[in-house]
Amino acid sequence: MSAPDAGPPPAPVQPAGERPARPPRVHREVVSFVRRSARMRPNQRRAWDAHHERFVLPVDRRETSTSVDPDARLDLTAAFGREAPLVVEIGPGPGDSLVAMAAARPEVDVLAFEVYEPAAAQLVSALHRAGLDNVRIVVADAVAGLQHLLPAGRLAELWTFFPDPWPKSRHHKRRLVSPALAAVAAERLQLGGTWRLATDWEDYALAMREVLDAEPGLENLHPGGWAPRWDARPLTRFEQRGLDAGRAVHDLTYRRVTPAAP
Ligand SMILES: C[S@@+](CC[C@H](N)C(=O)[O-])C[C@H]1O[C@@H](n2cnc3c(N)ncnc32)[C@H](O)[C@@H]1O
Repeated sequence: MSAPDAGPPPAPVQPAGERPARPPRVHREVVSFVRRSARMRPNQRRAWDAHHERFVLPVDRRETSTSVDPDARLDLTAAFGREAPLVVEIGPGPGDSLVAMAAARPEVDVLAFEVYEPAAAQLVSALHRAGLDNVRIVVADAVAGLQHLLPAGRLAELWTFFPDPWPKSRHHKRRLVSPALAAVAAERLQLGGTWRLATDWEDYALAMREVLDAEPGLENLHPGGWAPRWDARPLTRFEQRGLDAGRAVHDLTYRRVTPAAP
């Protein structure tokens, strides 16, 4: 006769004063975005299914991650079907500024790194509606993308507009603009190439300036001050939200220079 179901085995007795051992922590790198659910709305899904093959470049990612595999390769000439000056935008979101800026400059190719798939789907839809063929998207972390996918000196321009502000001090470590990004960005820019940034969070603007001023491969075109608003940059919903909340917008422009000999 089988024993009656006695339920789960009793928990081991804990000696008084000892805490149960915690499972070991898995190390996770700090990134500038939240790994939130990337479920697309039906209209985003339809646009993605119909057009992503035209605009989104398949890039090997680390398993279960938004990070680019260090061995991933990207053939830019094949991806754009031509050789042209290359601009990278980090975090275009749905592309409010990217689409207009790429349309205004058909002579350049624009590679956009966007981690959030629903935003990438909106961008795909907007690019299709605008009939643009000079933009490609990589759905992955831009920091790893710049590092692993692009050769040194390849970029004519880099754009970073209204990156997630992470306003709480305990989250500042998540901010995208960091010494590590500055170093890789400087290396990927060609000599004389420019990095344009904008934010509506003044303390982030000040932190950006401090980080970028400290990067020896970059020169601030407006030392100690702010760049004038770049008139090629259309007003986006993120900028408008900052203005509506009474925050001033700061632009920054840096140029790739040869670091002075020590
Ligand atoms: C606040 S939105 C700004 C969108 C756009 N630049 C604008 O001005 O309208 C920031 C975007 O950056 C993306 N993002 C954040 N960290 C990123 C990273 N490391 N690589 C690529 N995209 C990133 C977010 O998913 C989000 O879409």
